Amino acid sequence: MRLLLFFFILHLHNFFQISSPQTLPKNTTGYTCNLNQTASSCQTYAFFQPMGPNQLDLASISDLFSVSRAMIAKPSNITSLTSPLVPNQQLFIPLTCTCNSVHTTTTLSYAKLNYTIKKGDTFYFVSTNLFHNLTTYQSVETVNPNLVPINLTIGQDVIFPIFCKCPTKTQVQNQVNYLISYVFQPFDSVSSIASRFGSTTTLIVEVNGDDIRTWDTVFVPVSRLPELTQPSPTSVSFDHMSDRRGEVIGLEIVLGVCGVLLILIGGLWTYRESLWRKKLGKNKVDPESKKFEVGVSLMADVSDCLDKYKVYKFEELHEATHGFDERWVIKGSVFKGYIDGKWYAIKKMKWNACEELKILQKVNHGNLVMLEGFCIDTDDSNCYLVYEYLENGSLYTRLHDSKKERLSWRRRLRIAVDIANGLQYIHEHTIPRVVHKDVKSSNILLDAQMRAKIANFGLAKSGCNAMTRHIVGTQGYVAPEYLSDGIVSTKMDVFSFGVILLELISGREAINDQGKALWVEVYENFNGNEEKLKPKVKAFIDDAILRESCSIDSVMNVMSIAIASLHRDPSRRPSMVDIVYALCKSDDLFTDLSEVGLSQHQVLAR
Ligand SMILES: *[C@@H]1O[C@H](CO)[C@@H](O)[C@H](O)[C@H]1NC(C)=O
Ligand SMILES: *[C@@H]1O[C@H](CO)[C@@H](O)[C@H](O)[C@H]1NC(C)=O
Ligand SMILES: *[C@@H]1O[C@H](CO)[C@@H](O)[C@H](O)[C@H]1NC(C)=O
Ligand SMILES: *[C@@H]1O[C@H](CO)[C@@H](O)[C@H](O)[C@H]1NC(C)=O
Ligand SMILES: *[C@@H]1O[C@H](CO)[C@@H](O)[C@H](O)[C@H]1NC(C)=O
Ligand SMILES: *[C@@H]1O[C@H](CO)[C@@H](O)[C@H](O)[C@H]1NC(C)=O
Repeated sequence: MRLLLFFFILHLHNFFQISSPQTLPKNTTGYTCNLNQTASSCQTYAFFQPMGPNQLDLASISDLFSVSRAMIAKPSNITSLTSPLVPNQQLFIPLTCTCNSVHTTTTLSYAKLNYTIKKGDTFYFVSTNLFHNLTTYQSVETVNPNLVPINLTIGQDVIFPIFCKCPTKTQVQNQVNYLISYVFQPFDSVSSIASRFGSTTTLIVEVNGDDIRTWDTVFVPVSRLPELTQPSPTSVSFDHMSDRRGEVIGLEIVLGVCGVLLILIGGLWTYRESLWRKKLGKNKVDPESKKFEVGVSLMADVSDCLDKYKVYKFEELHEATHGFDERWVIKGSVFKGYIDGKWYAIKKMKWNACEELKILQKVNHGNLVMLEGFCIDTDDSNCYLVYEYLENGSLYTRLHDSKKERLSWRRRLRIAVDIANGLQYIHEHTIPRVVHKDVKSSNILLDAQMRAKIANFGLAKSGCNAMTRHIVGTQGYVAPEYLSDGIVSTKMDVFSFGVILLELISGREAINDQGKALWVEVYENFNGNEEKLKPKVKAFIDDAILRESCSIDSVMNVMSIAIASLHRDPSRRPSMVDIVYALCKSDDLFTDLSEVGLSQHQVLAR
């Protein structure tokens, strides 16, 4: 039995941009200030859009930012303090911004927010998920030098430095009275921000430089706070939101199976050491020097599930990746490494406990990316996970990189069947069922034979029909019922799979440049009867497929599966079992053109 982890490998979709000259890491500790130029403190605002069920009322937002509800309502043009908020409603949060010296040499500009640690919190989680990247975990570490990030206690008060800036004297003279803190989103451009806040691109670039990246905090210079338009209370519904730009912000939580491994191993070490002590009586053994070997031997002889992992030495991985050289980065903190004549993908992560290991122990399937082993570096408290390396990168890159040769319909169909098989496996053959929760083309990896494997199990949930506290997932793929009510079920994966089918058919991205989701378009355009549908589908199909002499009925059939998978009512979406069956029909259809017509539109006619 091989133990697989098929989650979080590489979000490979920037794979082919590695060589472009933008990879130098940006300062993450915060934004410097100079007391000679700015006031030591000022009143400013952060732009904030609530997400997830826990943030959908003013009270929880005002608690989070330690201000009163009225202080948010007034600048945000909200009249009722008690009516609920909708996801991504626009808010201005008042901040008291100060210039603070953190070391003798560094002064950082931020608003000090008191945050009380709750169960499961990490600096990373709170920074990215609660404060939506208005700060970074590195900055939190810098500002709280006395806290041990991996040993937080519930109820502990931590200062979260919310990034902000005060205008300089020169800026004030030029009528710049506020620098609004705004987190740059994936679909943003400098000019879109300028028009949103009534600023200009020149001013924004002057303050922030021109190397602005996604999730950076941008300071938008304005002379007065722009007026926000708020939804009228009656139109609060998903349909209303879906018309708005950027209605779902994808959250990709880095997870920490590592943490679980570490805890397990730590426990085993302690156990083993106590055994040793008993055996050896008073003979002293230096536990430090033995730790690694002990870990390895324990892995080998104690655990049923862990013994199939290979335990790598740090030196081995260091060498394999040329010292974790930037040029060997696949994406983010995932490196390509060469060990014993084979390529691997090596993910570096911090300690961070969670329950994923439970899930991963249960899965083993050819359409799920496989974990080969891991390594724990006790010196810098990092953990490394080593996965099989998939040569052809992500489906996202393969589909949407214009430099790549277009995939044939046959290939696309195979990929769809592979993904469906992988999902069927986790939905049907694990107890309790596993929901991936972040099915998207960048989490589908392709091997040398262009067979697809599902990666990145980072958000996965075990057990069905649960409600969740935190909305995660990716814009353009998230099922509406999950977004609005936090309902977790296998049918949310079915929905996301439907979106991937649309990508395969149309060759277009799940979210277009205007931030509109592909599935919304399907809701709008593909609701007539079959006769009306056919010409519309033809217009939707990727030109590359149309140029092939492939069976249009095969494409139509897959389109009808996609439409069924995207049904608004989760209970009316087909299960992955139905989908695998229907897709294989398409596959037959394509192989044997004489059978054309037998099964088209079967799913639509449901
Ligand atoms: C980034 O950090 C380096 C050194 O730590 C410093 O010299 C530089 O000014 C910083 N850049 C910004 C934009 O704060
Ligand atoms: C601020 O001004 C003082 C004197 O006016 C000078 O000594 C100091 O170096 C300045 N600090 C910075 C960071 O420019
Ligand atoms: C944070 O809260 C604690 C107690 O709740 C208080 O002692 C401390 O002064 C607060 N810190 C700040 C920066 O407000
Ligand atoms: C973790 O925190 C607890 C309580 O704050 C403390 O007693 C313990 O020594 C800490 N452990 C480490 C490894 O820092
Ligand atoms: C506030 O919101 C309402 C309703 O969305 C809008 O009509 C109005 O122009 C906004 N601005 C002010 C200052 O009330
Ligand atoms: C915060 O940034 C991380 C990447 O560093 C991103 O994955 C996450 O979605 C962002 N969070 C929000 C709420 O935008």
